[in-house]
Amino acid sequence: MSMNDFWIAPSILAADFARLGEEVTDVLDAGADLIHFDVMDNHYVPNLSVGPAVLSSLRAHGVTAKMDVHLMVKPVDRIIGDFINAGADMITFHPEASDHVDRSLSLIRDAGLQCGLVLNPATPLSVLDYTLEGLDMVLVMSINPGFGGQQFLPSTLGKIEAIRRRIDAVKPGTRLEVDGGVKTDNIRRIKDAGADTFVAGTAIFGTTDYRQVIDEMRRELSAP
Ligand code: DX5
Ligand code: ZN
Repeated sequence: MSMNDFWIAPSILAADFARLGEEVTDVLDAGADLIHFDVMDNHYVPNLSVGPAVLSSLRAHGVTAKMDVHLMVKPVDRIIGDFINAGADMITFHPEASDHVDRSLSLIRDAGLQCGLVLNPATPLSVLDYTLEGLDMVLVMSINPGFGGQQFLPSTLGKIEAIRRRIDAVKPGTRLEVDGGVKTDNIRRIKDAGADTFVAGTAIFGTTDYRQVIDEMRRELSAP
């Protein structure tokens, strides 16, 4: 896998929301590949973040980068159209939050966006049965969703390896994204387990020099 195949996706959850447009522009200038947009509803997860209006505002601010919308909401379907209209490029959701997973995926796909499923730490791989062939991305949670700044759960490394094997066997090219507690000191292990897309909130926005962290992550990713 070449370097360009690894994507670093800063999560806006750890950004300064009072200056969100500037924060997103800064992190893209610092070398981020896409923006991870965390949507929480205080129902599916015990926290509240931002909705489609904020994504529209970022587009109006001039952000053209790929927007990776991670829905932590229940139900899923009603809000999908709003994120399509707001300018999302890819939408992932938790299968536990949708009564009809295939329908939710179709809503995203039929609008020409990329779609993906999110697996919580305790979600079995069986949610990929009958779905993987139609996914552009599998997102593995390496924490329990709802909050940034949590510790990476090492037990998820074996799960990432198992999903990598499945993707390679069934649908090579599907992105394998990992979300939660990703830092410069563990990103290499996560890559070695098979991930190619790395969400990082606190590790990036919690520092003052975004470029330095992203460069360091890329150095770790390019290490043999
Ligand atoms: C948590 C979110 C994550 C979160 C990651 O539910 O899905 O994207 O922002 O934050 P860090 O990188 O701080 O663990
Ligand atoms: Zn996320």
